[in-house]
Amino acid sequence: MNASSESKNNLEQVVSLAKRRGFIFQSSELYGGINGFWDYGPMGSELKRNVREAWWKFTVHEREDVVGLDATIIMHPRIWEASGHIGGFADPMVDCKDCKKRHRADQLCEEQGAKLIQDGKNWKLPEGTKCTSCGSKNLTEPRSFNLMFKTYVGPVEDESSVSYLRPETAQAIFAQFLNILPTSRKSVPFGVAQSGKSFRNEINPRNFTFRSREFEQMELEFFIRPDEAVELICGRVTTLADNPDLTGKPQDDWGWDVWHKYWVEQRLAWFRSIGLPGDSLVEYWQTREELAHYARACVDIEYAFPFGVQELEGVAARSDFDLSQHQKFSGKSMTVMDDKLRLAVSEMDDAKKAEFRAKTIASWKASGKSEEDAGAFCDLLFEGRYIPHVVEPSLGTDRLVLALLCNAYDEEEVADANGKKEVRTVLRLHPAVAPIKVAVFPLVKNRPELYEKARGVFKRLQRYWNCFWDESGAIGRRYRRQDEVGTPFCVTVDFDTLENDTVTVRMRDSMEQVRMPVSELRSYLEEAMKV
Ligand code: GAP
Repeated sequence: MNASSESKNNLEQVVSLAKRRGFIFQSSELYGGINGFWDYGPMGSELKRNVREAWWKFTVHEREDVVGLDATIIMHPRIWEASGHIGGFADPMVDCKDCKKRHRADQLCEEQGAKLIQDGKNWKLPEGTKCTSCGSKNLTEPRSFNLMFKTYVGPVEDESSVSYLRPETAQAIFAQFLNILPTSRKSVPFGVAQSGKSFRNEINPRNFTFRSREFEQMELEFFIRPDEAVELICGRVTTLADNPDLTGKPQDDWGWDVWHKYWVEQRLAWFRSIGLPGDSLVEYWQTREELAHYARACVDIEYAFPFGVQELEGVAARSDFDLSQHQKFSGKSMTVMDDKLRLAVSEMDDAKKAEFRAKTIASWKASGKSEEDAGAFCDLLFEGRYIPHVVEPSLGTDRLVLALLCNAYDEEEVADANGKKEVRTVLRLHPAVAPIKVAVFPLVKNRPELYEKARGVFKRLQRYWNCFWDESGAIGRRYRRQDEVGTPFCVTVDFDTLENDTVTVRMRDSMEQVRMPVSELRSYLEEAMKV
């Protein structure tokens, strides 16, 4: 897939519209603002809520193998030790000794067409790196900066009360795995989804809401069998090389790489379904060097933002790393009993088991793992147990909202009622995410009969959708105001309505108008919103 690297919009126009029409405001603007924090206004809060709900519907409600979680933001600090965030969730930071500007070292290098040099656990700037603010080469060495926000739980501020605002929603899913498994009545393969706030003390928040210090994520941890368990159950493992059909129902014999690609495809299909065109998205497969040590594969789904093609969502195959870490740190077993596996191994004789063990040990050793670990893993499998592996699609809600706004923003030249040319600003948002679905206008407000009729239509539609009532100004002006916030349909009640109970429906994108009986309005709009 290719994204046109030149985005059609410019960020300033989107930022300006977002503020002017109540989508996104700078947090604490009254006091000069606070860098990296954003508030969603009347339109933005509806848009973001629709995005969240569309994600939940697609990821949880429309499936039978995913359940939800709503966990706390502050959790036991040992969770962040187990996850590796306390030890390693850091970015390299450099300061300019002249102008005192602080930079993220990797970004500073990238802006100058270079790459930060990694030397074991240390970083080095390439020769000639300059401060992008003042041009000075008088920069500090890059040093590690942990991105987690620290706080204290309880009245005493000492080391024992230190805690953290979560830097991702995902860890709570692993930490609650043992509670979710029996209460959900699901078995592997199944997933747990969570959306909510995350916090990262970013060195250099930028590009509007793209990189913020407080943001929202929508994450899914989809637990799968290790390939060895699939082989014991099905007698084979289907891999991507077998070219499986990813559009139908998931199959028992899928290996991890098929599940991973399946989720990449699912996510791309969902982005398209809420209005992001396929050609604005890029599927970037991380190279072996870029992958985290425990990850088997990771695809960044990128969007062509006005400031470049950048990550929207990561889909990672994380092996059994997370649950294994929590098993190690908590001392509690994270293994699951798999009935299909138990049945399969009960039918194996000792010779078959020995053959399987030898093959598994050889393959684990070839990938650098110990014979002892491979043997213990086989012993568990022969009991019908294993630690599940996981595929994680992880998406930033704010990034997606920004992508939807950038994609929807359009300006076009149109003629007004008198034929005079003017520029129409229109947000071509998909109806599923548009903040207001239908606006209702009385043609005039000083005719009580007409006014009451229009109020009746508005109240009836309000039962089904978020509707907006507007009685002020010329109809053309009212249409333009709705165009700017992306309302797909405007319904006007006029003098003919009083005669024959019909109204006009005006479409945002084509500006066409159709007349129809009030009795057909709901079913017409319902159908039209499906696009
Ligand atoms: N649990 C995995 C995880 O958190 P990540 O790549 O660090 O992975 C996932 O984050 C997604 O969260 C990103 O693809 C991005 O959409 C969003 N995200 C991460 N940092 C962000 C920030 N500072 N501001 C806004 N969104 C962010």
